[in-house]
Amino acid sequence: MTPDRPRITIFDTTLRDGEQSPGCSMNQQEKLRLAHQLDRLGVDVIEAGFPIASEGDFESVQAIADVVRRPIIAGLARACQADIERAWEALKDAKRPRIHVFLATSDIHLQYKLRITRDQCLAQAREAVRLAKSLCPDVEFSPEDATRTDPDFLCRVLDAVVEAGATTLNIPDTVGYTVPSEFGALIAIIRERVKGIEKATISAHCHNDLGMAVANALAAIVAGARQVECTINGIGERAGNASLEEIVMAMRVRPDRYPYETGIVSEQIFAASQMLSEVTGVPVQPNKAITGRNAFAHEAGIHQDGVLKNPLTYEIMTPKSVGVPDSKLVLGKHSGRHALAIRCEQLGYHFDRRALDDIYRRFVHLADKIKHVEDHHLLELIRETHKPSTSATPLIEPIPNAIAAAASAPGGEPVKPFPMASPQPNAFGVPLPISSEGHHEQTQQEDYLWGV
Ligand code: KIV
Ligand code: ZN
Repeated sequence: MTPDRPRITIFDTTLRDGEQSPGCSMNQQEKLRLAHQLDRLGVDVIEAGFPIASEGDFESVQAIADVVRRPIIAGLARACQADIERAWEALKDAKRPRIHVFLATSDIHLQYKLRITRDQCLAQAREAVRLAKSLCPDVEFSPEDATRTDPDFLCRVLDAVVEAGATTLNIPDTVGYTVPSEFGALIAIIRERVKGIEKATISAHCHNDLGMAVANALAAIVAGARQVECTINGIGERAGNASLEEIVMAMRVRPDRYPYETGIVSEQIFAASQMLSEVTGVPVQPNKAITGRNAFAHEAGIHQDGVLKNPLTYEIMTPKSVGVPDSKLVLGKHSGRHALAIRCEQLGYHFDRRALDDIYRRFVHLADKIKHVEDHHLLELIRETHKPSTSATPLIEPIPNAIAAAASAPGGEPVKPFPMASPQPNAFGVPLPISSEGHHEQTQQEDYLWGV
């Protein structure tokens, strides 16, 4: 950990706000399984549920509080006695419990949803936090729909709840309405104006209705927020919440812009994403940043060629750093010879250029008809191309893995794959050039063009 970088608290709400997304409800066993994975992932706070919402939610929060002991376990409550007491009942055996109280503060919510005045709202928020604080030392308050709330009134409510004992002030962009510059400015106003703010942590809770949840959360951090609320795979109400993996990896990949630390073990990200998808039955969108199946897949020839030479050409982070087993080269009609050659080698076939050219022509023809050329297609294609011929020198030299392995075994027959590193006759009896600086450059250039 770099000592001078501020530490950002990662508050995971996959099991509460995330669960509110259509098709994502989970039973107690499933929530427990995920809570253990969130623990391995290193999140600081797990919002385990909304205990008053149902018996099942209550029991899930209680079960998680009982067995997941490292992170803070939070339970949600509306700003009323019944909710707060129920939340505390579920949380009281947690090692580090937190009651999360929320109350809407925007005029639109006060007028149409709650039918209360601003003064009533202010008093209710203060009383609710007082009650929560009398039960639990760690109290978070969220003014729901904060980004559509009059900033002066918002600051008055925040003044009151800090005085009543709130230790975290969470600023929700409940309807995903704000934009980064505006949200950053709001956080700055809160930092400047709220009395006693130095005793509390400012938090950001962003929804993705305009696709800006992650950008808004990062803007809040830059403006002084030190907690972000997020979910795995960005699941959540409507368009979802800010995605945990995107926020964390933005900070890891761009410390020049986001010089902050988190306690996240990024190598556990992929496992968490896969587990959530498996538990909910909701697949991850293929092009989802960080966790989608295409996030590290390269199909275009130029890209494949570059990645094979040096992953940094087209990958800004390694798949391994987020726990993805390996970068996949998808063979399709945009793939180039370089990627095809590598895949053939992985299958145990080493070809000289001419032979590869032949395979490549057939491959492109096939890829035009089917979307992805899988290994079994490729093997079939190789077998077809390498039909027994009358020629004494086969066009293609198949080197199945077993033969190659036998060759490397003591006493095994030496097997010379094509192309060779030292001068060797190729399939046409023409010596292949020795690797030299100039030749290397030429090959690199040709490979680049091949990739097209
Ligand atoms: O989006 C929201 O306003 C919420 C609050 C309960 C924090 O989820
Ligand atoms: Zn929310």
